[in-house]
Amino acid sequence: MYELVTTYGVDDDMPHRLLVLNGPNLNLLGEREPAVYGTTTLAQIEAFVRDEATALGWTAEFLQTNHEGVLIDAIHAARETADGVILNPSALTHTSIAVRDAVGAIPVPVIEVHLTNVHRREPYRRISYVAETAAATISGAGPDSYLAALYLLDRRVRAAA
Ligand code: DQA
Repeated sequence: MYELVTTYGVDDDMPHRLLVLNGPNLNLLGEREPAVYGTTTLAQIEAFVRDEATALGWTAEFLQTNHEGVLIDAIHAARETADGVILNPSALTHTSIAVRDAVGAIPVPVIEVHLTNVHRREPYRRISYVAETAAATISGAGPDSYLAALYLLDRRVRAAA
């Protein structure tokens, strides 16, 4: 005798763990080239991502670093501490095979995000090493790129549960 159980969704008792990583120069959001990046600060982005993550039943941690090695260490650590990662590698997107490899080295889904549409900018920004190993890339939605990444992670994790 079989019991048909529909399991869409996750164990509500276990919050999922979001890690949001931001790379070089993103600490200066709000004052950095506002015509390109807008006036929203990183603290404001982190606050609304945290609020939305909480509403979806996730805990959220945030790290911004200007140092490639620190970013790589944080990506490695995510395999023990996170169920999903949102990563804005900033300029390292276009230069760092090491960050690309770190993303590929962990089983946790990593969504690459950019505030700006990197395909509409200088030619050197059209190349993303990180996109080769990221689960998806969201580019050009401003601060909402982070929210779109959160929704994507939430759907993936629920579907996998
Ligand atoms: C960025 C785009 C990168 O090309 C740039 O180097 C950044 C920010 C973005 O969020 O639009 O620092 O990742």
